[in-house]
Amino acid sequence: MEFSPATLAVQETKTPCLVLGIFKGSSRPSGLIKQIDDATGGWLQKQLKRGDFGGAKGQTQYLYDPPGLLAERLLLVGCGDSAEFGERAYLEACQTAAKTLNEGGAKQAVSCLPALKVGRRDLAWKIQQAAYNTGIALYTFDEFKSKAEKTKAPLRRLDLWIGADEDTALAAASIRVGEALIAGVTLARDLANRPGNVCTPTHLAKQAKALKKQHARMSLEVLEEADMEKLGMGAFLSVSRGSEEPGKLIVLHYQGGEKNARPLVLVGKGITFDTGGISLKPGAQMDEMKYDMGGAASVLGTLDACARLELPLNVVGIIAAAENMPDGRASKPGDIVKTLSGQTVEILNTDAEGRLVLCDALSYAERFDPDSVVDMATLTGACIIALGHQVSAVLGNHPPLIQELIQAGQTSFDRAWELPLLDEYQEQLKSNFADMANIGGRAAGTITAASFLSRFAKAYHWAHLDIAGTAWISGDKKGATGRPVGLLLQWLLDRAAGGR
Ligand code: BES
Ligand code: MN
Ligand code: ZN
Repeated sequence: MEFSPATLAVQETKTPCLVLGIFKGSSRPSGLIKQIDDATGGWLQKQLKRGDFGGAKGQTQYLYDPPGLLAERLLLVGCGDSAEFGERAYLEACQTAAKTLNEGGAKQAVSCLPALKVGRRDLAWKIQQAAYNTGIALYTFDEFKSKAEKTKAPLRRLDLWIGADEDTALAAASIRVGEALIAGVTLARDLANRPGNVCTPTHLAKQAKALKKQHARMSLEVLEEADMEKLGMGAFLSVSRGSEEPGKLIVLHYQGGEKNARPLVLVGKGITFDTGGISLKPGAQMDEMKYDMGGAASVLGTLDACARLELPLNVVGIIAAAENMPDGRASKPGDIVKTLSGQTVEILNTDAEGRLVLCDALSYAERFDPDSVVDMATLTGACIIALGHQVSAVLGNHPPLIQELIQAGQTSFDRAWELPLLDEYQEQLKSNFADMANIGGRAAGTITAASFLSRFAKAYHWAHLDIAGTAWISGDKKGATGRPVGLLLQWLLDRAAGGR
């Protein structure tokens, strides 16, 4: 897919297809649509008045051979009520347009959707989102289908209306960000969609290696189980030991900033399959536990996008990759392990494995003297109960960092909501036999999981994103979403712009 800013006046634009956003009941057009209608001598308005196309959200219609224009056809995209039109409706319109165009007809088009007023969003945002949402709308995952469905005339090029020539450079920059984000999100989705028998810890390490080869400023270390043994990462190893697949701690560096600039560290939960271990999960929908490495996938996707944009930052990605299996060597409820930090943990439930691999990864992060550390994890089912599938949970030990992440979520429309990480919750982790238990009971499961992690993140500014509800979609549209790559890349962009 190729994107460019479209600078010509729409009347003079020669294109196989011009995409127009139309509101409900807009038989008397205004703005750009009025301009186009004037160029057609009232023809467009006449077509709209027929009423076949109501302008409802998701509705589309082609009109052919519009008089007075150099476009072969118009694609009308319903935008719903103009009074209710906002960000979400805009992103949906961009996706609807992309899917409709891709189904056949024109391989190239010029989209006028960025001409719509979207709340207070500026042109740069609208252009970036138009490119990004086009890219992700066309995502397919057919690596494992023996016969992939072929699109007849797939969309190859989309020019995005920008109105004024002087905005060309700005729009081109937004398109670049949109394209980097498409690449990063696509990588994260592909990795997470791969099944557990393919996407193992070893596979994740290979993917990290492939990224390193693609980008000059990247370097890679992979810690094997023996290395972790030497370091004393007893919590991580207590999980990976229960599987035939060797666990790996994958550390991918991106050096885009000054040599000595303190890095931002992204830590990802990379459980490539979570059976629950000896505290075995029930069978229903257990296949979805192949997505339990969504945090790891988002680390790789974000680093890829960051490197594509050559952001002037130092970023370290740490992936705690292991498979959680029941086995003769697997942890048993009641087992006590010693973490890299020296603190001991009583494993009361082997299904609370994410925090066990992450706590050692968080301790390992200390050695990079980080500016800030953000971890991403499909950590708790409780998070889905609290926040559903719409927003990720964010908790942490440094309010400004949490605010930065929430803000980046708003900008990217990959949103997060804060849950309170109060001291009081720590009591729920009390153990009679070790420094702490790995579970804190049914109440506030997302918060007690974060409370556990916080004990290993005291040395730096830290935030945790629980993405259990947002990393994938269940049901007949089952698949990875690539979240929170959008949020994370936006955070890095904001940091790179100096707005820390
Ligand atoms: N990977 C799961 C969390 C999860 C469950 C994510 C369902 C998405 C959907 C995690 O390892 C887990 O099993 N957590 C337990 C923790 C509990 C034992 C304290 C949970 O949420 O049930
Ligand atoms: Mn689990
Ligand atoms: Zn898990």
